[in-house]
Amino acid sequence: MAAMTSIWDQRYAVPDYIYGKEPNDFLVAQAHRLQGQVLSLAEGEGRNAVFLATLGLSVHGVDSSAVGLAKAEALARDRGVVIRTEVADLAEFVPAPETYDGVVSIFAHLPKAIRDRLYPLVEKCLKPGGLLLLEAYSEDQQTRSTGGPKDVDRLMSPAKLLQAFPHLEPLHLWTGDREVWEGTYHRGASAVVQFIARKPGEGEPEGFWLPLPSA
Ligand SMILES: C[S@@+](CC[C@H](N)C(=O)[O-])C[C@H]1O[C@@H](n2cnc3c(N)ncnc32)[C@H](O)[C@@H]1O
Repeated sequence: MAAMTSIWDQRYAVPDYIYGKEPNDFLVAQAHRLQGQVLSLAEGEGRNAVFLATLGLSVHGVDSSAVGLAKAEALARDRGVVIRTEVADLAEFVPAPETYDGVVSIFAHLPKAIRDRLYPLVEKCLKPGGLLLLEAYSEDQQTRSTGGPKDVDRLMSPAKLLQAFPHLEPLHLWTGDREVWEGTYHRGASAVVQFIARKPGEGEPEGFWLPLPSA
C-alpha cells in the first residue's frame, strides 16, 4: 500500500521541483551505459526518469509519493517524452523478474528493513547483463547539513552495498566528497557513495567484466 499524505507528498506539494528539473550528475555521467528498459527506484519528481527517456530509454519510475509522480508526468509532458510511473511503497513493491536492462537508484534512502527485502528483488528483476546504477549519501554525510537523512541506518557505505548485492559484479564503487547542487534540499559539499554493478550474463565466468576504466 502506498504511503498516505507522507512527508514526501507534503514536500512535493509546491510548484517548484524541490530537487530541480535537471538530472543527477552521476546519472548524466554514466547514463551511456544504460539501454532498453530501466526501473528507477524512488523516482520522486521525475528529473532522472525524464532525462533517461530523452535518451530513448523506456523508464518505469516507482515512488510512494503520488504528488511527486504527478510532477514527474508533468515534466515528461513538458519535455515531450513518455515515462511510466507507478505509485508504490518500496516496502511492498515486487518488480517483475528478469525484465529490466537497468535499475537506477538516486538518493533513495531506505531503511535496512526495506532494503533487505527489496534489493534481492532488484537483483532478480535485472536481465542477465543488466546494470544497477546507484548514488546515495554515505554514512559520512550524517553530521552535514547539505542534504540527506540524518539516520545512519538510511545512509549507505561500500560495505553495505557489497553485502546487499552479492550476485552482482561491481564495476565501479567509489565513496568520497563531491558538490551536490540539486534544488533546495541538496546543497553543497556532500559525502556520497556511487555504485555500478552488473548482473552476470549467461555463461560468463566470474570476473569476466573488469572494473570500468573511466569510473
Ligand atoms: C531524496 S528523494 C529522491 C528523489 C529522486 N530519486 C531524485 O533524485 O530526485 C527520496 C524519494 O524516495 C521516496 N521514498 C522514500 N521512501 C519510499 C518508499 N518506502 N517507497 C517508495 N518511495 C519512497 C520519496 O517519496 C522521495 O521521492
